[in-house]
Amino acid sequence: MKKNIVILPGDGIGSEVTSQAVKVLNAVAEHYQHEFIYKYASIGAIAIDETGNPLPNATIEACLESDAILLGAVGHPKYDQDPTAIVRPEQGLLGIRKALQLYCNVRPIKIYPSISHLSPLKEAALEGVDLLIYRELTGGIYFGEKFTSEDGLFASDTCNYHTDEIERIAHLAFRAAQLRRKKLTLIDKANVLETSRLWRKVVQKMAIEYPDVAVNYMFIDNAAMQMILSPKQFDVIITENMFGDIISDEASVLSGSLGLAPSASVGNITALFEPVHGSFPQAAGKDIANPIGAILSVAMMLDYFHLYQEANRVREAVSWTLNNKFVTKDIDPINFYFTSTLGELIADFVGHKITDQVNHENIELRKSTVI
Ligand code: IPM
Ligand code: MN
Repeated sequence: MKKNIVILPGDGIGSEVTSQAVKVLNAVAEHYQHEFIYKYASIGAIAIDETGNPLPNATIEACLESDAILLGAVGHPKYDQDPTAIVRPEQGLLGIRKALQLYCNVRPIKIYPSISHLSPLKEAALEGVDLLIYRELTGGIYFGEKFTSEDGLFASDTCNYHTDEIERIAHLAFRAAQLRRKKLTLIDKANVLETSRLWRKVVQKMAIEYPDVAVNYMFIDNAAMQMILSPKQFDVIITENMFGDIISDEASVLSGSLGLAPSASVGNITALFEPVHGSFPQAAGKDIANPIGAILSVAMMLDYFHLYQEANRVREAVSWTLNNKFVTKDIDPINFYFTSTLGELIADFVGHKITDQVNHENIELRKSTVI
């Protein structure tokens, strides 16, 4: 199979984690005889520095022609501390989602028993946790009309949704639920918001078409609490843009590290894959970031290409590293491995260059001595 992949490393640790994910893609290509052709383009703060624009036209054009996109991270502290900045790195991310109509963001949450002791929840509460968040990504308050009065004393953001925008993602979420435990939870604030009432109406109506899926409805405030009290109750979650942003960050720490969580954003033209974590500027350039979020995003990309065997091999490689304690500093601050070492290990495992019967001593040599 031949695929054109655009790599958008972005800011902070973005380039370090995407280069590990590319190593893994190369191992897949070599071992399973595929051809992946990469094109690099800029987005975010780095693109502002280079061109003044967080989303240069050349980037949009490259992405529109691609089969898939891998994004690292976007964001820089110099903009976070300046609410008056007119150009912001995040506009690049929001812009690409809109330009490519990536309306459906999928964030799977999984527990890895070998690191579940790092979770903020007790291990008993984590048993059986396996959920999938479907977050609407191109509508809602993120993209509604924005306004600040001239005197700067008043501001507003508008939340809009059209039935069509709800239906297209809801179909995908219902179908995902059919392939899993057949449970779909709509998270909204229908006791207060008109848009939430529209979401409920549309999903309730669609539920008739999917009689095998049990649908329930939950207010976002309650859902945020339930996510901590009893996350195993969730199978597939569907929600609008901002609630999805918040609940997916909350859910992603259940595993014990935000650094593991991948995501896929799909539309009708192409699809974009990115780790859930941000640009983590404090870690940039130190080779300590966790590349697994980016590597598991590549596994989702392989699923999207229908290369299921290859995708599962990547997931197997990730579990193998975690089980063998080949982990980055976020997981073990003392005996940790560098980002680049972990990328190589996972790529080597994918390419069958390391077997399960690993000679630990050889790899121990790669262990960091920097504490
Ligand atoms: C995310 C991020 C973005 C969002 C930011 C960086 C604009 O938090 O992908 O979840 O809010 O969607
Ligand atoms: Mn977010």
